[in-house]
Order: sequence, then C-alpha cells, then structure tokens
Amino acid sequence: MLVQVRSTVLPALLAIGFAATAQAPASLKDAYQGDFVIGAAINAAQITGEDVRGDAIIKAQFNSISPENCLKWESVHPQPDEYDFTIPDQYVAFGEKSHMFIVGHNLVWHNQVPAWVFRDDKGNLLDRDALLARMRDHIHTMVGRYKGRIQSWDVVNEALNEDGTMRQSLWEKIIGDDYIAKAFQYAHEADPQAQLTYNDYNLENEAKRSGAIALITKLKGEGVPITSVGLQGHDSLTWPTVDQMDATLSAFAKLGMKVAISELDVDVLPPATRQATADVTVSIQQNAALNPYVNGLPDSVQQQLAKRYADLFGVFLKHRDVVNRVTFWGVTDGDSWRNDWPVRGRTSYPLLFDRAGQPKPAFDAVIRAAGQPAS
Ligand code: XIL
Repeated sequence: MLVQVRSTVLPALLAIGFAATAQAPASLKDAYQGDFVIGAAINAAQITGEDVRGDAIIKAQFNSISPENCLKWESVHPQPDEYDFTIPDQYVAFGEKSHMFIVGHNLVWHNQVPAWVFRDDKGNLLDRDALLARMRDHIHTMVGRYKGRIQSWDVVNEALNEDGTMRQSLWEKIIGDDYIAKAFQYAHEADPQAQLTYNDYNLENEAKRSGAIALITKLKGEGVPITSVGLQGHDSLTWPTVDQMDATLSAFAKLGMKVAISELDVDVLPPATRQATADVTVSIQQNAALNPYVNGLPDSVQQQLAKRYADLFGVFLKHRDVVNRVTFWGVTDGDSWRNDWPVRGRTSYPLLFDRAGQPKPAFDAVIRAAGQPAS
C-alpha cells in the first residue's frame, strides 16, 4: 500500500514542485524575509502604471520602493509657490497598495535643486536665516504631507567631499556646517516617527568614511535625530572590495546607526573616470571602447556579475543586524541611469533583470546567497 502511494503521489508532488520552480522563481523579498527589505527605485512610468511589465516585477520581487526622481526638489517644487504632487501622491499610493516600505529621496541636496532656492527675487544670494526658513518650509511641506506614510527620508544627500571634508555647496556656504543638523531637526519635527538618513556615495573609501564618522559622531553628540546612513552603492566589479564593505558596515554599526544600501547597481562597463564617483554632473564623451556590449553581455561577464552580487550580499547578510534595507537603483537594465551616466548612450547591465524583464544569472546568485552569510 505504502509503496503504491509513494509511486503515484511522490512523482506528482515532484512534478508540481518542479513546475513551481520553473514558472515562478523565488522572489528577492521572500528570500531575504527576516534579514532586510529589498527595494527598487521606481520611475514615473512605473508609478503611473504605464510600465505594466515593470510593475509586475516590482510587485512580485520587492517590498520597498524609492522614488528615482519624483520627490527631488526640482520635480516636486519647481517654483517658489508651486508644488506638484501629482506623481509623488501616486508613488506613495503605489507603495501603500502593496504594503511596501516607502522611502523619500531626498530633501536637501546640491543637485536637482532649482537655482531660485538660493536667491531672492532680485537674484541675490539669500542670507542664512532666509535660506533656513526656505529649507524648513520645504521639509515641513514634504515630510508633513506624507507623515506616517513615507517611513524613511534621505534628509541630506552627498554633503561630503572625497577627502572627508564638508562639500562647499550653497547650503553649506550660506547657512554653515549646521545646515545638516537643522535639516534633520526640521524633518523630525514634521514626522517624529520617520527614519532619517544621511545618504552618500564612496563612504567605503577610508578618507570619506572618516569624514562621515566624524560628522555623525558630532550630530549624535548634539542630539540630532539621525537614525541611519545610506550607502548609495553605485559599485563596479572591483570596487568596493568585500573588506571595504565589511569595514564600512562595522564602522557605522559602532555608531549605533542602521545602514541602508540605498542605490545599488554594479557597473560592468569600462570605467570612464579615473576615480569611482556617483557625481551626477559628470558627463563623458562616448566612444566604442567605452561601450563594448551593445549586442549583449558575454556569458563570462554575466558570471562575473553574478559572483560579484553574491559576494556583496554575503557581506550584507553578515551585517543583517545593522543593514535594514537593500535597494536597487532601477528594476531592469533598460531602466538604469547607468545607460546615460557617466557616459551618454551606453548599453549597461548593472541590475538583476535584463532588458526583456527576465531574471539574469545575477538574480539567481542573489537568491542563492540568501541564508549563506559570509563568515
Ligand atoms: C539619478 C537618477 O537615477 C537619474 O535619472 C537622474 O537623471 C540623476 O539622478 N545619486 C543619487 C540619485 O542620490 O538621486 C541619483 O539618481 C544617482 C546618484
């Protein structure tokens, strides 16, 4: 009897299991359940529902979203008395509908901010008090509107130079170094429950990381309500090393910070700048040598990318007590800003889903890495 049950039921069960695996691969969000949330930055076509294929991937795979551009100052607040919340409201509704962890990006940055922000109506630079008032107003409007709905805000983006000193942005020049403390204070006033993040790139490099550690130590000492650090994670196949990543996560954990890997992508194209950067204003002339994979990514490079993603997720998992979110900067390779930055018009392959929306070997590698933290 038993033998008979086995011989009929087991193969059937195996067949079902096999079919389930073949049709619906495990999802990223399920694979990392209990470790950290897995996010994607989404664009306007995805927010409005126009990108049907992209939306299906987002809902199946991710449990957090970031706004690629729609909450930046120039998009949402283009004129002194004009806010446009059309897309941002849909962004937040999109996340709520799927019970996602919703990120706000960003409040205070020197890029994608209109020139008028720093000037009076005669065109002269504002003084400290006037700029602080404008900054407070913007932060209160944004954070207040989505109070209790956007769970985490990137309050200040990219305030540091590569050597760890303060960037001389107009925010810093007009207000002084304490513009950062003020921005966090205003955001906290507007939503005391929200996670508040300092977000930057290249913090895996020692000099810049030391600057960030000094900055956060100072802010914490002053009682500034900062809860987390965002490591953008615009990485390459070789940078940052696993050791740099490991040391960086340990350093911020020691300060009592949570860490979000906030904008992850891994570049496989030839480097176009001497030093790794994520400076959005860099723009380099295209040439064929810089764009070698127009007709597809060779399998050997697919495998390198997969291995690289597995290594990175190994470190994130090792620090899962401090890493609370890993967000990819885009959904498919076709969506990625890396197709136009730092060189316009390249064919780039930095994400887990290809241009047809299919999972790449790197996707399988990230799924397989779940539950296997690096030692
Ligand atoms: C990028 C967007 O992906 C692009 O669409 C836009 O043209 C420029 O900004 N660091 C950040 C992000 O904090 O906001 C940037 O996003 C990428 C670098």
